[in-house]
Amino acid sequence: MIELKNLCKIFKTGNKSIVAAENISMRVKEGEICVLLGPSGCGKTTTLKMINKIIEPTSGEIFVNGKNVTNVDNIVLRRKIGYVIQQIGLFPNLTVKGNISIVPKMLHWDKERIDRRAEELMEMISLDKSYLSMYPKELSGGQQQRIGVARALAANPPVMLMDEPFGAIDPINREIIQDEFLRLQKKIKKTIIMVSHDITEAIKMADKIAIFKEGVLQQFDTPDNILAHPGNSFVENFVGKDRTLKRLNLYSVVDVMNKTPFIFNDNDNVCDAIKIMHENSLASVFIVDKDKKPVGRLVLKDVKNLKKNDGKCINYMIELKSMIKIEENLRNISSQMYLHSKSSFVCVDNDDKIVGEISQDGISNFLNATYKKEPKGYENV
Ligand SMILES: Nc1ncnc2c1ncn2[C@@H]1O[C@H](COP(=O)(O)OP(=O)(O)O)[C@@H](O)[C@H]1O
Ligand SMILES: [Mg+2]
Repeated sequence: MIELKNLCKIFKTGNKSIVAAENISMRVKEGEICVLLGPSGCGKTTTLKMINKIIEPTSGEIFVNGKNVTNVDNIVLRRKIGYVIQQIGLFPNLTVKGNISIVPKMLHWDKERIDRRAEELMEMISLDKSYLSMYPKELSGGQQQRIGVARALAANPPVMLMDEPFGAIDPINREIIQDEFLRLQKKIKKTIIMVSHDITEAIKMADKIAIFKEGVLQQFDTPDNILAHPGNSFVENFVGKDRTLKRLNLYSVVDVMNKTPFIFNDNDNVCDAIKIMHENSLASVFIVDKDKKPVGRLVLKDVKNLKKNDGKCINYMIELKSMIKIEENLRNISSQMYLHSKSSFVCVDNDDKIVGEISQDGISNFLNATYKKEPKGYENV
């Protein structure tokens, strides 16, 4: 756990003083990722560097796992806090292994232990062991970035500070590395404070977002609350006019789908289905085969004039063209709804068996339900 209490930093240059951080108070729980977000020069790096005492606070206190760090020796503190510096900052004259062994060597680990850890780290960041003997300039930006993360993780610190860790990578590789990092974090569960100026990155990575303006913390809250209830006009402008669309990235189909849609078997009598559709005011129902795999949609307006008919659902249904996996995010699904002019899709599990239905109305109701929650506003402590 990391707690900042009334943290201030005033830089004095000549006869000018710059307030880079003003009364910052916040608490990051164990195992959470907190993203410090805001425009350039708002005090993100300064705040981050005060936590491992690269910058001495002018006033205020910092607690790491309940311990006030003011009196902890700087070297001891930094060994417990992994640090990924802005612009990666690998040492060009050291190999990959040299770079990731810096802290273990400072800790006087023996050679065997360092070798073992180096291989473990490479596996964690999905790079082959053969990279260990290469120099940073032989690696792509994305690979260098991974090494920067591995270096910070080397001595297995419980806390990681990361300054724009994915900033120097092209957008496509950035997404890949972000996904990889989130998968890794699920396993290693570090307490992480990460700097970013990119709202999309913050929404994707953060459990909590702290938005800064000119050294002042504007709002500290979950990504969903920041987007649904921006605390002031600065935050509202910063998150953008499309903030509801951005919220769609936070949820998967499984969070929103109707898990009990009306379904019929392909061999069921079509009149039974028509009756149920009338009784429940349904425009259509899904048809499944004997393995519960969706095969079609029976649309009421196509069949409502059928009378006393022995036909089976399979003879009247429209074949299904697309099915949705439950782990897809809502933004992708909404995009497909517009693309195909569809207001709902059938949802399937990994065996392609039906598990639900997702509709435009369902998504709207879900977003509105969370909008209606009492605004949390500023949650600085
Ligand atoms: N060592 C320093 N001396 C003087 N001013 C500084 C120093 N470091 C940062 N600043 C100023 O403090 C403010 C916050 O900087 P910084 O924390 O680096 O912002 P960010 O990381 O959000 O871009 C800026 O106005 C910057 O110019
Ligand atoms: Mg910075």
